[in-house]
Amino acid sequence: MGVQVFSGCPRHRSGGARMVYDPTMARGFERKMGSCFRLSAAGVALAFSVGCSKPSTSPPVAPPPEAPAGAAVPEPESATVSPSESEAPTPQAPETLRAAAARAGRKIGVALGTYFFDDPQYKEVAARHFDSLTPENEMKWESIQPEPGKFTFEAGDKLVAFAEQNGMRVRGHTLVWHNQLPAWVKARSGAELEKVMLEHVRTTAAHFRGKIAQWDVVNEAVDETGALRKNSPFSALGREYVAKAFRAAHEADPNARLYYNDYDIEAPSDPKSEGAYQLVKWLKESGVPIHGMGFQVHVDPRKWPTGAEMQRTFERFAALGLEIEITELDVPVGEIPGTLEQKLAEQRRITKEMIGACVAVPTCTGVTLWGLADKHSWLSTPEWAPRRGKGPHLPLLFDDDYQPKPAFTGAVEAFLQR
Ligand code: XIL
Repeated sequence: MGVQVFSGCPRHRSGGARMVYDPTMARGFERKMGSCFRLSAAGVALAFSVGCSKPSTSPPVAPPPEAPAGAAVPEPESATVSPSESEAPTPQAPETLRAAAARAGRKIGVALGTYFFDDPQYKEVAARHFDSLTPENEMKWESIQPEPGKFTFEAGDKLVAFAEQNGMRVRGHTLVWHNQLPAWVKARSGAELEKVMLEHVRTTAAHFRGKIAQWDVVNEAVDETGALRKNSPFSALGREYVAKAFRAAHEADPNARLYYNDYDIEAPSDPKSEGAYQLVKWLKESGVPIHGMGFQVHVDPRKWPTGAEMQRTFERFAALGLEIEITELDVPVGEIPGTLEQKLAEQRRITKEMIGACVAVPTCTGVTLWGLADKHSWLSTPEWAPRRGKGPHLPLLFDDDYQPKPAFTGAVEAFLQR
């Protein structure tokens, strides 16, 4: 693998070349795992029953439970059953993530960018495995309205069209955020800032009206102390700005489910989690049209709540009458100790636990992975990788050849254990 440059990708404008990790490391692991590693999800379950050694950390894939009333109808994914298999009715694991998630009545999403669309495999694998799509960058303010009044919807429209062609829902991301915000917005304050904010929200939500299932209306408003973050120009408007953004979005697209989205709010006792809780509680109590709470779940394996703790947090927010989604899941392995094989086994365990926390909460409606294959991840760039320590982080479910990793199996198991 060489240094790849994807023109038009916002993440590379400021960052330069992509981080290159040693692919022979991953290939060596693949060789060790032999054909098991290269099997599809259904194959994984089957392969274990025909002699591949099964990682010790996980139980066999459980039989699918009864779908709850109103759950999405599972896709017909059953593989051909041989006579001996039909005698012993071992349930087939679904071949795709979307089929697995549907068994749990959940959506499974992926963050995509049109800057990767030249690669046909990218589109193929995304459409096959995911039934929800979040634009990784192309609906952010700097992409949509780079200059005052100059709206550019082309890339967003292209992602929406791709989603429509492939039966995927779209999570709009994001209307009001302090990052990837053009300098001309940051230069404003007071009533002027509020005016451009409301114009941006209205124009963007109206453009995509009827096409977006969920909007992350406001992203990352609070800091690690739980207060409105100091490095956002919007904070000076007081928490009312959040309420106003939600109201404007609702007027422009009344059928979209409106979300507040944030990171590092997963641990129940965390001051930041408490700050986010108080903010959305106030919105709810004020009659603001907020429908859901997005937990980014950018896992830091050096310090992270357990699945049970995360479930408690989800339940606390759900009790306010909010839907829950995991909106930006990735599990970087760089700082996990051990061999690559051990790192990937631990990644599988963590992935299963995180998705399991969503599956355990009835109103958690979906899980989105923040990228498709490891090479597409923001944590594979020199700009962002260091925030999770030493790489390579290999944080997603597919390797650079689009082969499912052990974490893929962890995800499938999480959806089936319900
Ligand atoms: C990241 C993208 O993945 C990068 O390509 C970009 O350079 C920076 O933003 N929280 C969010 C996402 O809500 O929008 C961020 O996405 C990751 C953290």
